Amino acid sequence: MTSEKLPTEAVEAAQIAALEAIAQAPDLESLKEVRINFVGDRSPIAKFSQELGRMDPALRAEFGKVVGQAKSAIAQAFEARTVLLEAERDARVLVEERVDVSIPARKRTQGGLHPLTILTNEICDLFLGMGYRVAEGPELEAEWLNFDALNIPADHPARTMQDTFFIEPLDSHLVLRTHTSPVQVRTMLNEEPPIYVICPGRTYRADELDATHTPVFSQVEGLVIDKGITMADLKGTLDHFARSIFGPDVKTRLRSSFFPFTEPSAEVDFYFNGRWIEWGGCGMVNPKVLRAAGIDPDIYSGFAFGMGLERTLMVRHGITDMHDIVEGDVRFSQGFGTGGR
Ligand code: DAH
Repeated sequence: MTSEKLPTEAVEAAQIAALEAIAQAPDLESLKEVRINFVGDRSPIAKFSQELGRMDPALRAEFGKVVGQAKSAIAQAFEARTVLLEAERDARVLVEERVDVSIPARKRTQGGLHPLTILTNEICDLFLGMGYRVAEGPELEAEWLNFDALNIPADHPARTMQDTFFIEPLDSHLVLRTHTSPVQVRTMLNEEPPIYVICPGRTYRADELDATHTPVFSQVEGLVIDKGITMADLKGTLDHFARSIFGPDVKTRLRSSFFPFTEPSAEVDFYFNGRWIEWGGCGMVNPKVLRAAGIDPDIYSGFAFGMGLERTLMVRHGITDMHDIVEGDVRFSQGFGTGGR
């Protein structure tokens, strides 16, 4: 190759084409393409570099200089264009993706406790304040604890299929507990007196859901076992309980009744808004129950009481339809706030 034959013009042409393509690339994406076609290893200018190796050494220096200058001009132009397009892109992103921090946040409504939970907490707090402990038991309960240990005989009407949800297979002897009273037995079996417990929980009976009934309902059970406990202690405790739930003016009365697990037994009523309302059952724990749970009735006596929480809630808040309590419509719960009364 002689000096005249050096493809200097071709190098210049490649340089011009590259510079033009760089200048015309409208954005970074296109500039990437330009890099492949005009700057990278397979671009025309790169090919000239490769040819240098095959050249007569005498010409290589001169041609190398031409190619080198073209390459660095292209590289510089490419750098400058990149900086410019990046700045453009950043400016555009700032505008397009602007966040208006002054827009008011969308309100998220917070969940609230169900009114039954609020009432349960209120009752537990009251009794905790009197030195009681909260005790709980399983909703799927042994038939023996739900009935037998409470002196409810096998032919008692409460055991019949209509009232009790029995669990199959029947010889499992499991039921959905029909009341919270089995928690009394569990507690007495596991603890030595003195015993002061309050036992809230869900209970089940085969009732249809209507305005005043629900097959899944809630009760709270109280149990005290100590030396020298009398019915006066029971009455005083129920009075205090009623006043704390229904207000300071509420009155209670005990009406003679029967429960297999208490002797004597009574129904407790309270006088509220001009009428007597049935609240629950109570009595002195039957010595047979104490004995079944391993407690000596000659040393200890005790009282127990149990009432429905749905009913308590309905009376206190003038709720006339059980569906409102059961269905879980948030508009109902919201009226009760998230704390106590
Ligand atoms: N367990 C009874 C019921 O569900 C209520 C009850 C009555 C509980 C008398 C007691 C009690 O603790 O002493 O109908």
